Amino acid sequence: MTQETALLSKTPVPGEEHAPSRKVFVKTYGCQMNVYDSDRMSDALSRDGYVSTDVLEEADFVLLNTCHIREKAAEKVYSELGRLRELKKEKAREGREMVIGVAGCVAQAEGDEILRRAPAVDLVIGPQTYHRLPEALKRARDGERVVESDYAIEDKFEHLPAPDKAKTRARGVTAFLTVQEGCDKFCTFCVVPYTRGSEVSRPVAQIVAEAEKLVEGGVREITLLGQNVNAWHGAGPDGRDWGLGDLLVRLAEIEGLKRLRYTTSHPRDMDDGLIEAHRSMTKLMPYLHLPVQSGSDRILKAMNRRHTAAEYLTLIDRIRAAQPDLALSGDFIVGFPGETDEDFEDTMRLVEAVGYAQAFSFKYSSRPGTPGAELKDQVPEDVKAKRLERLQTLLMKQQREFAQACIGREIDLLLEKPGRMPGQLVGRSPWLQPVNVDAKTSQIGDIIKVRIIKAGSNSLFAEMIA
Ligand code: 5AD
Ligand code: SF4
Repeated sequence: MTQETALLSKTPVPGEEHAPSRKVFVKTYGCQMNVYDSDRMSDALSRDGYVSTDVLEEADFVLLNTCHIREKAAEKVYSELGRLRELKKEKAREGREMVIGVAGCVAQAEGDEILRRAPAVDLVIGPQTYHRLPEALKRARDGERVVESDYAIEDKFEHLPAPDKAKTRARGVTAFLTVQEGCDKFCTFCVVPYTRGSEVSRPVAQIVAEAEKLVEGGVREITLLGQNVNAWHGAGPDGRDWGLGDLLVRLAEIEGLKRLRYTTSHPRDMDDGLIEAHRSMTKLMPYLHLPVQSGSDRILKAMNRRHTAAEYLTLIDRIRAAQPDLALSGDFIVGFPGETDEDFEDTMRLVEAVGYAQAFSFKYSSRPGTPGAELKDQVPEDVKAKRLERLQTLLMKQQREFAQACIGREIDLLLEKPGRMPGQLVGRSPWLQPVNVDAKTSQIGDIIKVRIIKAGSNSLFAEMIA
């Protein structure tokens, strides 16, 4: 338990002055948007006196915030629910309550089906209706089995409380801020357009207000989040339709905010304004996660990515011309239905041509309800496994080369938290690698000048420059 929650648990709950506060345990699966949502849900529940705990056994409410992107992710949820069922029975024998809730993309995709498959679940809530969680939880505690998975019309962000200063402080000097949700791209392998709905951008004023609150709470670096974050747009105070580049420029005006990042982007939405932001903004970190998925035009077409490999490479050239120091990251899928050896070689060639600083790669996983699941020519598992191994070997080699090339460079480092070794702090390089350096705990939140002296397998080591 953190110091903050320990203090909070002694605070009387308004209207329930003599009742001990209830505890919520939230387990988050999947992407950073789920991390952000989990915090927002905890904040909403804290209004009803719920205190966060990281000890499962002491929780009165266990909430799994789930991911549906690949089969494995969804299956993990059901095996966790099996374990929770036993714990719930044990607690019931001791006369203690344990409400079990499922949120996130599995909740949205499977709805009622979860109640059938997992009898211990009391509450299912989809990502568009999180602002209704406190009320849904009350109903669940009254014995109802609740499913909330509509696409709510009201803006959930309007109704979810922003974190207060104390909570923000406890969460550290870097923060996520969701600015966009949903996806209209309909890549044929992907469940996101079905689980997160169509693209919605939050208004400028709402985002600026939330960013200002985060900075007041000590945050120095904000990562803007969205399934298609670079599709974000909104009416600017100057009457123009702003793109993400304009929003970044506006956020950079907030005093005390030192660094900005954003993720995840689609190549089709990388507009001139955003590329210009990479050229001109010192607060915008030189890092870009720009998934391409495949290097084969045939497969890109079948995936409905709506660009070719050559167009992606040209785009990378333009962005690198604007920001030569850029680190690129990407996502790849191997074994999409119909992918031949030659298609896969095209992916390898594209990776060679780009040179990634970091990347995520996956075996294609057939998802019910997506067009890809209907395609013939599914690639055998052993072929997918072999291709993935070759691709990951190449990507790891590029990651190591990128890290090696950092040795000797002098960078500004935002000190985030204690490192693994006593006397060490860790922060992120401009290119998102963890960097360890000898420093005092009191320096957390400072930006210091360091020289990178060593590259480990997943992190860098640096020394302070006097
Ligand atoms: N199978 C494998 N990987 C997938 N991704 C999305 N859907 C699937 C799927 N059905 C990957 C893509 C995406 C990342 C978030 O997850 O690479 O960019
Ligand atoms: Fe999924 Fe494609 Fe939308 Fe990304 S752009 S969320 S991969 S459908």
